[in-house]
Amino acid sequence: MIKYFESTAGITADQLQGFFVGWPNPPSPETHRRILDNSAHIVLAFDEDREQVVGFVNAISDNVLSAYIPLLEVLPEYQRQGIGRELMQRMLALLDGLYMIDLISNPAALDFYTKLGMTKEVGMSLKNFDRQSGRE
Ligand SMILES: CC(C)(COP(=O)(O)OP(=O)(O)OC[C@H]1O[C@@H](n2cnc3c(N)ncnc32)[C@H](O)[C@@H]1OP(=O)(O)O)[C@@H](O)C(=O)NCCC(=O)NCCS
Repeated sequence: MIKYFESTAGITADQLQGFFVGWPNPPSPETHRRILDNSAHIVLAFDEDREQVVGFVNAISDNVLSAYIPLLEVLPEYQRQGIGRELMQRMLALLDGLYMIDLISNPAALDFYTKLGMTKEVGMSLKNFDRQSGRE
């Protein structure tokens, strides 16, 4: 049974294992917890049977005009079960009323975001790969 939470209350770093699949230098579960705590909004998908977080999305925002969604991930064994869509729909509801909700999609996820009503635009990015695991 998957439950959805909008805070990290009661969630330990140990329950955040397994994310950032394919990242050469991923944030630790403790840093992941810090990312979530510093975000304007989060939604977590929590498997009650395993007592593990199995998906998450976060947003940073000025809470007036704009929000940016940096991270969305569902653990591989939980993908294609509707969890990613539920996370995004809940996040978009939290961000309702803002003018701009932006994200950078990887090419494989374009169809997923299109199905949520998002449109493809041109973005720019600068990545410091030596800081991929997070700032101290
Ligand atoms: C992208 C991601 C979050 C999707 O989560 P998910 O739980 O598997 O997606 P859902 O099961 O909710 O799928 C919702 C819809 O999108 C479709 N979809 C999901 N992933 C897709 C993909 N890679 N390509 C095309 N369609 C996809 C589903 O078929 C479903 O379509 P339907 O409404 O017609 O049934 C997940 O694949 C993931 O975590 N990927 C790795 C990290 C990543 O790429 N994150 C996004 C960074 S921009």
